[in-house]
Amino acid sequence: MGVEDVEWCWLNGQICPLSDARVSVEDRGFVFADGVYEGIRIYDGVPFALDRHLRRLANSCRALELSNPLNDEALSREIHRLIEHGGVRDAFLYLQLTRGAAPRNAVFPKDAHTTLLFWTRKLPPVVPIARQTGAKLITAPDDRWRRCWIKAIGLTASVQARNAADRAGAEEAIFVDENGIVAEGTSSNVFAVIDQQVVTHPVGPRVLPGVTRDVVIECAKHLGIDIIERPIQLHEAKRAAEVFITSTTRHLIWIKTWDDATIAGSCGPITRRLSEAFDRYVVDHIRGSSRSMSS
Ligand code: PDD
Repeated sequence: MGVEDVEWCWLNGQICPLSDARVSVEDRGFVFADGVYEGIRIYDGVPFALDRHLRRLANSCRALELSNPLNDEALSREIHRLIEHGGVRDAFLYLQLTRGAAPRNAVFPKDAHTTLLFWTRKLPPVVPIARQTGAKLITAPDDRWRRCWIKAIGLTASVQARNAADRAGAEEAIFVDENGIVAEGTSSNVFAVIDQQVVTHPVGPRVLPGVTRDVVIECAKHLGIDIIERPIQLHEAKRAAEVFITSTTRHLIWIKTWDDATIAGSCGPITRRLSEAFDRYVVDHIRGSSRSMSS
């Protein structure tokens, strides 16, 4: 690995090569999955929608009584320091905050220090919607906890479902509850176009407030596309004219098949418009941030 390929990690205030970063085996993240995380995309050295990610992180921390050692301003400054240090251009930034190392006991430790870390990894560019060939979804029973709006690091159910998708040659597994309601994917939100209306499940117990989801909803409103947040039945979704999923690493992905159902043979017009609007939003955001950083 050349020097320029070194992946850098910020761990409790110190920057070091990711391969040298160490935390205790008694860290509560390792022992209890007692922590939260964020996944942020960096374009041309600019973290996309950082304010939205920091807001979601603060909500996750509040929900789990975790205190972030850095306020938003300091955290943003340190993220930019890591990006600069590593000469990072197009990458994924993974951030994790745990309740720290302490003798194993479920009760919150009184004197532990949280473990805060983030690292970046190069990412290939997103595949533009026009070049996508249509992805496949499978259904998975939603056996996760009911506080999915918290971005907690305990992801056992998601890991299991994602591997079922992988084995089936699918892009993603979509969690569907015992009443046949479509919640979200293991690491994505899901949208369906029904009667010219874009429908997605409200955020809350079963759905993470995805940053991409948020921006897509804003783009839809801006374009005058009807968008509604309501529960969708699986049979309804499978008959939708268009289905797409959203996430930080994927942007929008159009869906061709879901289990044995064919959704569409090509990308639908509403998905295409939203995807193009999203891409423009990213470009404007990156330009705007570079300008504000250099001014
Ligand atoms: N996952 N729903 C779940 C359960 C997720 O884990 C994610 C993101 C999303 C989409 O959120 P966003 O648009 O903010 O990326 C929805 C991250 C990327 C991950 O687990 O790596």
